[in-house]
Amino acid sequence: MSGPLNENPVKFSSKLTTILVAAGCSVGLGNIWRFPYITGEGGGAAFVIIYLLCIIFIGHPVMISEFALGRATHRSAVGAYKALGGRKWSWLGYNGVLTAFIIMGFYYVVAGWTAEYLVVSVSGELSKYSEVSEYKELFNGFVSHPWKPVLYTWLFIFVNHLVIHMGVAKGLERVSKVLMPMLFVILIVLAVNSLLLPNSWEGLVFFLKPDFSKLSPEVVLMAVGQAFFSLSIGLGALIAYGSYIPKGADLRKTATQVTILDTSVAFISGLIIFPAAASVGIDPGAGPALVFQTLPAIFNMLPWSMLWSSVFFLLLVIAALTSTMSLHEVVTVYLMEEWGLPRRIGTYVTSISVALLSAVASLSLGVGSGFTIFGLTLFDAMDYLTANLMLPIGGLCTCIFVGWWLERKIFEDQITNFGELKRGDLSLMTFLIRYICPITLFAMFLDNLGFLG
Ligand code: PHE
Repeated sequence: MSGPLNENPVKFSSKLTTILVAAGCSVGLGNIWRFPYITGEGGGAAFVIIYLLCIIFIGHPVMISEFALGRATHRSAVGAYKALGGRKWSWLGYNGVLTAFIIMGFYYVVAGWTAEYLVVSVSGELSKYSEVSEYKELFNGFVSHPWKPVLYTWLFIFVNHLVIHMGVAKGLERVSKVLMPMLFVILIVLAVNSLLLPNSWEGLVFFLKPDFSKLSPEVVLMAVGQAFFSLSIGLGALIAYGSYIPKGADLRKTATQVTILDTSVAFISGLIIFPAAASVGIDPGAGPALVFQTLPAIFNMLPWSMLWSSVFFLLLVIAALTSTMSLHEVVTVYLMEEWGLPRRIGTYVTSISVALLSAVASLSLGVGSGFTIFGLTLFDAMDYLTANLMLPIGGLCTCIFVGWWLERKIFEDQITNFGELKRGDLSLMTFLIRYICPITLFAMFLDNLGFLG
């Protein structure tokens, strides 16, 4: 175990770029599609409070740990664990690769839906509808169509594949720099608009006034899972990012900024969706359909609705793209490092195998809906398995690795930039990583298995 193992020639060009690119990876459908739907299923405000606690006390320290592992080794997940922990820790990297692969399997499907909504926005079809029942019909008809959603999913994968060919730094940097501020502004405008709708109050109360009787071990697990999913942690994606972070950058600060950005986007999405859903009479517990049924209603109440919805879905497609690029990268780099494939071939293998998996996931909502696993469609099962189990388990083990296995100095050197930065809250952070995060995550699993009563 030593310091840097090899110098990675690819580096982000500035600190701002580092933040924007990592935020591009974190901000995606997880914030705008998954956060509102999971919050709706989790019962609203009480869930949101648990979610925020998970972000602060578990998510943030895990993100810093992943950055540190990446920058200390200049490797991606499998390589980093192997380099610092030896062969017996490499499974943690493999777990991340498998998680990334399964997440892509359903994430691309939802990305395909956003692409479809972009097309129906631009074509003007979306603005023709005005009743909630029509929005529901549009969504249900689309996801259960025998081939259309698969086609859009593949189209998205194809575009993603092309962008990746432009290379990590160039492609990601250019897209993220323009996208993030634009997305932020449009979300704020939509939130203000939602809050001004008649009856929006009811939705706001659901989102912000906690009813703790709605909490259960399952809801806590959903909150932890959503925190991991949204921050893109627990699978080593940010280890790869860490390896691109320049020497002088402050990892704690970078992680704080990314966490704040990511959480604000999720929060603002909640401020858009719940008031609007209450206003038009959509159940906040409508599941994965929630956002897709509510958004058209919001747009149709605005002047120039076609323009609004087109710009919004375009941004959403791009936000999804910056997230899928990093998921794709986890698998591609694994194929390069472990199977010795050239990048080009690794990219193809990843894209093609994920295209097959996501087609099956997509069809599981329509023609294949009769086939269920523990009562869940394959799509829902993949979502549940990765977010609620694989990511938190990955996070738990990351904490054990960094807190208990890794030589303390390696971590501390990364956090303080070899003594250049003040230690500040380093002891508190180490305490969180060694005790609070693993114990909380472990207790939560026990609780869900029914061991804690
Ligand atoms: N965090 C991304 C989102 O919110 C999803 C993601 C998860 C991306 C894990 C990379 C790794 O959409």
